[in-house]
Amino acid sequence: MSKDILEKIKQQFQKGLEDSGGNLEKLKELQVKFLSRKSKLNQLLKGLKDLSPEEKKEFGPLANKTKQEMEGEIIGLIKELQQKKDLEKDWIDVTIPGKEEKIGHLNLLTKTQRDIERIFTSMGFEIADGPEIENEYYNFDALNIPQSHPARDLWDTFWLKNKDKNGDNLLLRTHTSNSQVRYMEKNQPPFQIIIPGKAYRYEATDANHEHSFCQFEALVVGDDISVANFKSIAEEFFSAFFGGKIEIRLRPSYFPFTEPGFEFDISCKVCGGKGCSTCSNTGWLEMGGCGMVNQKVFKAAGYKKNQYQGFAWGFGIERLAMMKYKVDDIRHFRSGDLRFVKQF
Ligand code: PHE
Repeated sequence: MSKDILEKIKQQFQKGLEDSGGNLEKLKELQVKFLSRKSKLNQLLKGLKDLSPEEKKEFGPLANKTKQEMEGEIIGLIKELQQKKDLEKDWIDVTIPGKEEKIGHLNLLTKTQRDIERIFTSMGFEIADGPEIENEYYNFDALNIPQSHPARDLWDTFWLKNKDKNGDNLLLRTHTSNSQVRYMEKNQPPFQIIIPGKAYRYEATDANHEHSFCQFEALVVGDDISVANFKSIAEEFFSAFFGGKIEIRLRPSYFPFTEPGFEFDISCKVCGGKGCSTCSNTGWLEMGGCGMVNQKVFKAAGYKKNQYQGFAWGFGIERLAMMKYKVDDIRHFRSGDLRFVKQF
């Protein structure tokens, strides 16, 4: 063995490195060729044991050093190239435009209900709540609609098979008026509240009627409340809700829980009251029922007769949304049709 052989191996190895041109596969081949067990260098190392002690002393460290250097060099290069390759594989083009995330939004009905709540709370009203599964007492009897009363026919009812714990029949509330006496039993006047929520009627559906719909009840009770208060609050609310000046009109009507009772109209939003197809040329749009609270209802709530006056109304939230956003069919709201939902 001589230094020359080692030197030669080293040179060949260096040349191999250069020729590989930074190709990972070629480097790996080179590693096998020069550093595997069968490589010339390893054969030389194996042969060290047959040398004389002097020769061993001379060549041993040198051969080992050469091997370590070569190994260090090629392993370093392979590692570097491998990392580069991995990086290329994981490379992300941050300049590609991202996929647009689909973000949901509030349903038009929820939005309308929140608008209503916002306007009323800004007018000093509180928001109250009541159950959708109700007993016959709060939905009807407490509102002066006893069982035999023909007015019950106004509210076609979904009855439930179960009864409540007092044996009273259960139903899906036909209006948010069910919450009037519930609230008054727990609260003393003066107060002004709205009660938004779902109501249900056993009815055939058409463009203006749904079996499940939303209403909001307004109830204002105090010592000295009159129809005049009612008119001004209603005007303020509708003007804020629709924007611009809205006129209101009351027509005599009948509800067992009001005395007197009215139908409530607002001036047509589309033609401003001049008459158009939306309002059937009347200039007015029907909004819902309202009236001064019947003293019999106060009595059911435990208030003394004639101690308080109050007014109440119950309007459909779908109807308000239909007018404001020009929706022509109430059934769109729950159709789940994305073409409708996405418009708002
Ligand atoms: N609850 C009535 C209905 O749904 C509306 C109403 C509420 C009328 C309050 C008068 C007073 O038909």
